Amino acid sequence: MRAVQYHEHGDESVLTLEDVEQPTPAPDQALVRIEAASVNPIDTYIREGNVSPPSGLPHVGGSDLAGVVEAVGDEVTRFEPGDRVFATGLGLFSPGTYAEYTVAPESQLASLPEGVEFRDAAAGAMAFATAWRALVTRGDLELGDVALVHGASGGVGHAAVQVAKAAGAFVVGTAREGEAADLAREYGADAVVDYRSDDLADDLEAATNGRGVDVVFEPHADLHLAANLDVLARGGRIVVIGEENPIEIDAGVSMTAKQADADLRFMSLMASPDDQVPILERVGERLADGRFTIEIDEVFGLDELPAAHRELMSSGTLGKIVIDPSK
Ligand SMILES: NC(=O)c1ccc[n+]([C@@H]2O[C@H](COP(=O)([O-])OP(=O)(O)OC[C@H]3O[C@@H](n4cnc5c(N)ncnc54)[C@H](OP(=O)(O)O)[C@@H]3O)[C@@H](O)[C@H]2O)c1
Repeated sequence: MRAVQYHEHGDESVLTLEDVEQPTPAPDQALVRIEAASVNPIDTYIREGNVSPPSGLPHVGGSDLAGVVEAVGDEVTRFEPGDRVFATGLGLFSPGTYAEYTVAPESQLASLPEGVEFRDAAAGAMAFATAWRALVTRGDLELGDVALVHGASGGVGHAAVQVAKAAGAFVVGTAREGEAADLAREYGADAVVDYRSDDLADDLEAATNGRGVDVVFEPHADLHLAANLDVLARGGRIVVIGEENPIEIDAGVSMTAKQADADLRFMSLMASPDDQVPILERVGERLADGRFTIEIDEVFGLDELPAAHRELMSSGTLGKIVIDPSK
């Protein structure tokens, strides 16, 4: 079968399309024919060696998949050949999804409802599961809350806007004014602030009409923590899902009244495999009936993985980038 793997860590040029042996499922795994995958920043961190796959190199990357079960191990009870499935959180502790086939633990596979396109499921898996787990499970988002979604035009961001709206929140997004802000509005953001603002906290405060924010969805914590704290309503929660650099907090932060009850929380989907399937099943229902939709910016073939990684990590991508092994 064809798979994109790397023999050493590095930039996109280490991603090589090769003919490799089709994997055989272990007793608790299923062999899945991959109809679509998608690219996520974590795939690039693993490729660069910032996070290392315990099984060593060569390694096939890729976290998300949607496809059809081809074969199952002896202990698998929930699936049989022919079943439609989707999954996220693969490609670190198990082989990845930049391939025509992969093996995945039964415990990480969710049934994919009829009517959901494979491309949408692969694009939506990590995006919606991350948004759901961050805002609802970790952020305790409630009806009537104000949610702040940073990076609201990105892969997880535009999914988070939809999850927050579905939970009954007033949603403020951050995105570049123009196409990106329009996309955030299209997916439900009630207000959008340009993250390049000279006074982000002031603009965010104004966007909430001075009420403040109850839950912050934060993929860039090193950039916005001060602004988040400034704009937080009393008892607010900041859920950090990513940061590129060390996070600094000003001295004296615990002395101000509204920040006194602030919660700084962290969330990693990859580190929470037990939560993935229950959330994915609810995401699948909502993709099937149209309550959730996913924006696909571009579709690449397996031979175009280096370009897909480059595109993902550049500015201006709207929504998700999908990989189609048949392309
Ligand atoms: N903890 C978890 O389980 C988990 C799961 C999934 C993702 N993540 C993390 O979440 C982050 C985003 O992932 P993704 O898949 O959405 O990536 P993505 O599709 O590349 O989106 C990133 C978004 O952030 C925006 N952005 C860039 N600089 C910004 C700033 N200063 N303020 C606000 N927004 C800014 C980008 O806008 P422009 O296009 O204008 O640059 C883009 O819309 C990554 O760091 C990823 O590792 C964490």
